[in-house]
Amino acid sequence: MKKKLVSLLVVSAMTLSMLVGCGNSAAETATEVAETATEVAETATEVAETVAETAGNADLADKKVGVCIYQFADNFMTLFRTELENYLISQGFAKDNITIVDGANDQATQTNQIQNFITQGVDVLIINPVNSSSAATITDLVVGANIPLVYINREPDADEEARWESNGWNVTYVGCDARQSGTMQGEILVDLGQDKIDLNGDGKIQYIMIEGDPENVDAQYRTEFSVKALEDAGWAVEELDDQVGNWDQATAQQLVANSLSAHPETEVVFCNNDAMALGALQSIEAAGRKVGEDIYLVGVDALTEALEDVLAGTMTGTVFNDHIAQSHGAADAAINYITGAGNEYYIGCDYVKVTTDNAQSVLDSLK
Ligand code: GAL
Ligand code: CA
Repeated sequence: MKKKLVSLLVVSAMTLSMLVGCGNSAAETATEVAETATEVAETATEVAETVAETAGNADLADKKVGVCIYQFADNFMTLFRTELENYLISQGFAKDNITIVDGANDQATQTNQIQNFITQGVDVLIINPVNSSSAATITDLVVGANIPLVYINREPDADEEARWESNGWNVTYVGCDARQSGTMQGEILVDLGQDKIDLNGDGKIQYIMIEGDPENVDAQYRTEFSVKALEDAGWAVEELDDQVGNWDQATAQQLVANSLSAHPETEVVFCNNDAMALGALQSIEAAGRKVGEDIYLVGVDALTEALEDVLAGTMTGTVFNDHIAQSHGAADAAINYITGAGNEYYIGCDYVKVTTDNAQSVLDSLK
């Protein structure tokens, strides 16, 4: 690339000297000389940019990134970490310098992994904490070792975030606001109209709620705001059951099977994520029920399988949890710490409501 640009520069300079020497009118020659000079200048700028880019990438190539994921056996976080690794490599990090570890849903295991990364002297840490409530301890460890820190997916609480700013620490959070995803789940139903959802016509929406890990704000807010969106639309609601499925498909399948047999009057199944909605769907079908006809089902994440279900009508809707924007945002924040550019203390991202109307385009955008 660099060679090609340099030879272009040489050719342009030669053209310039030839033009000055040949028999065109003075005005024509002057114009052509000016044009050629502009081209030479543009080529020189391109050369300079390429040199700068190469130098930037070379800087990142020997930087070490430690990534802690709360649990590898999580569908959404698997999409996230795969995209994160690919994007870090595309930005100039060497694959061998990116280490991603599985916290196996155990904070003690993850804390050990963080300590190991500190001992190895990584240049930056990207952490998806097992327990958000351990964030203060994690921050103290990492900041104490003078390593910049990017939290992802599980947002630490407001007090913890305020501490980063007041101390001017190199710590940030990259993620979405879980309230928005809950609100969108509720709105998907509101948009369909109360007459449709209130299947038994008693003026109330009978629902069951399947929660993710309740320690996690994503679970807390989605549980709260999905129902709130119905209430804000003036709908009366009746909670028939509220169970913890820990983001897991098989667990949710079992829970929903039990709930549906205890509460056949269920009109809506809210799941805090798609993995659990897929489990719920298995039990809905096993109970001989039909989504969109005698029950409604919503999730969050926009996993490929869930998008296909939305298109097939076997899921009412989902909410796209943009793992691409979030993983790129996290990698960019890590790079900003390494280069000294720094970051804001909160880097947000938007969820997208997904129904039959746009499920295909979301699916296409993920290919
Ligand atoms: C949520 C996501 C869930 C699960 C969870 C882990 O944002 O919707 O599927 O991955 O994060 O904390
Ligand atoms: Ca009803």
